[in-house]
Amino acid sequence: MADTMIDAIKRRVSVRTFSAEPVPPEVMDAFRGGMLRNGADLFGNRPRFLVIDPREERLGETAGLFTYGVVKNPGFFIAGAVPRGPGALTDFGYAMERHILEAVSLGLGTCWLGGTFSRSAFSRAMGLRDGELLPAVSPLGIPAAEKSLVDGVLSFAARSRLRRPWKEIFHRGRPGVPLSPGEAGAYAEVLECVRMAPSALNRQPWRVVREESADVFHFYIVSEGGGGEIRLPEIDIGIALCHFELAAGALGLSGSWSGKTGSGGVEGWTHILTWEGR
Ligand SMILES: Cc1cc2nc3c(=O)[nH]c(=O)nc-3n(C[C@H](O)[C@H](O)[C@H](O)COP(=O)(O)O)c2cc1C
Repeated sequence: MADTMIDAIKRRVSVRTFSAEPVPPEVMDAFRGGMLRNGADLFGNRPRFLVIDPREERLGETAGLFTYGVVKNPGFFIAGAVPRGPGALTDFGYAMERHILEAVSLGLGTCWLGGTFSRSAFSRAMGLRDGELLPAVSPLGIPAAEKSLVDGVLSFAARSRLRRPWKEIFHRGRPGVPLSPGEAGAYAEVLECVRMAPSALNRQPWRVVREESADVFHFYIVSEGGGGEIRLPEIDIGIALCHFELAAGALGLSGSWSGKTGSGGVEGWTHILTWEGR
């Protein structure tokens, strides 16, 4: 339903401490049903996802070791894999965030983990295939009333509730000219949903330029590059594109993604996709 998606986007926070209370089976059934409905990608790479029960023997270790002690009492994990290819990590971010938001709308806590988890243990549990990457996982469970010490320190270090101001992220016509919520018109709420998106280390590497006189939004990544095969900013932008599209859909704003840059290249920014509103 319309506002449930925007509501889920606004309510979502990283949860690393879960209650020992088990997730009701009907909630997990609803989540699995949503996973089947929510499959989508932007660049044609088909991520696949699996719900993993840490109590199952094949994990072979306790769930705490799996996440180096960052996550306490996870009920389940959702893990995903995507074939290597252009746009694979962005497709992964875009697809996984739909599952995360579905979980949030069912009252579950989640936390993107792109670093603090045992990639080899999850690759085994997932049955990772040749040519596939396993970019990230998330615990799923009932949020605990109080955060663990590690969770508190991590949330504080990432300044989890804070986001860059509008003027840094959203631009009008060209980079450096700030776009105000008033100028964004009907899209102001949609862009706010992009601003609230989670990103690795809360770096918020996304930048958006709205064309001067049309609902055309160019999405870019700013990043220093590097980081090996799992380039987290590419996952982050997939999450931002997911938030944009779901919020636009919820508000009845139609449009579609295209690869064209319109205003041309911007130094230091990598163009990913453009939304053309109709
Ligand atoms: C791609 C990605 C990877 C992340 N990896 C980790 C991680 O390895 N460990 C962790 O504790 N948090 C991780 N996070 C969570 C971020 O730190 C968190 O989303 C950010 O600080 C914003 O806080 P919020 O999610 O509470 O809004 C990751 C987030 C994203 C999007």
